[in-house]
Amino acid sequence: MSSRRWVPELEILAREAGEIVLKGFKGAKKISQKSSAMDIVTEYDTEVEAFLRKTIEMRFPGHRVLGEEEEYLSHEAMGSILPERGFVWVVDPIDGTLNFAYGIPLLAISIALYLDSELIAGVVYNPVIDEMFSAEQGQGATCNGVPIKVSAVNELEKALVAISVGRRKQDSKLFKLADLVGGMRALGSAATALAYVAAGRIDGYWERDLNLWDIAAGLLLVKEAGGKVALWPEGQHIQIRDLEILGTNSQLFSEISSERVKL
Ligand code: 2AM
Ligand code: CA
Repeated sequence: MSSRRWVPELEILAREAGEIVLKGFKGAKKISQKSSAMDIVTEYDTEVEAFLRKTIEMRFPGHRVLGEEEEYLSHEAMGSILPERGFVWVVDPIDGTLNFAYGIPLLAISIALYLDSELIAGVVYNPVIDEMFSAEQGQGATCNGVPIKVSAVNELEKALVAISVGRRKQDSKLFKLADLVGGMRALGSAATALAYVAAGRIDGYWERDLNLWDIAAGLLLVKEAGGKVALWPEGQHIQIRDLEILGTNSQLFSEISSERVKL
């Protein structure tokens, strides 16, 4: 547990990065392919991540940065787990890059801060609509400074749940979930989906094949807004890649997670 409040620092960083993202959202952008035609990076992802790294290292000497586009700036090899000690910032310069490239305003800058393996602060900021979701460990969550909490929906058939479609063409878990819940939405941004669970706009979110930078800040938002989150694989160490997540309000969690086990 940190003795100081970190959210103001994270919010400043997110707003500064937001200015670059907004400029890119409104203008033309150069798009490059990563692993597939739908896995892309724009010049803005790279520019925003470089900005975040440089600024964090300048303002907080000795802190480490893990980011999407340049996996690790540290000179040591990071491997597949988060370092256990010290301050580690986990940043996603644009979560929802495909939306960003297509001009769909569902995207976020996601910034999370770990201290000695504990998630102590996180922000998810959408600069297009100027919406800042923030959470500090033990202090609750806010949207643009106003406290938020998860929904109270307690019946699966009334639940609206965010998922992802497209990356796995035949996903039996997805079909099973579709049978269980009232409605589904594919938002294209994991950070945004978790922020919306925290704000009670949707009742749950399930996705897999994610990386820690997509979800770290959102995880804390859901917890601090009174929801529940599970992250697989479970274990002593925090994994960086191939993560599966379920985040819901507190009412729906056990039912969806037990159904998940049966999938
Ligand atoms: P991105 O926009 O930063 O790439 C959408 O389903 C979510 O999955 C987004 O948060 C998106 O993050 C993430 N995502 C997209 N492609 C991915 C990939 N190849 N590996 C892991 N996460 C990915
Ligand atoms: Ca991402």
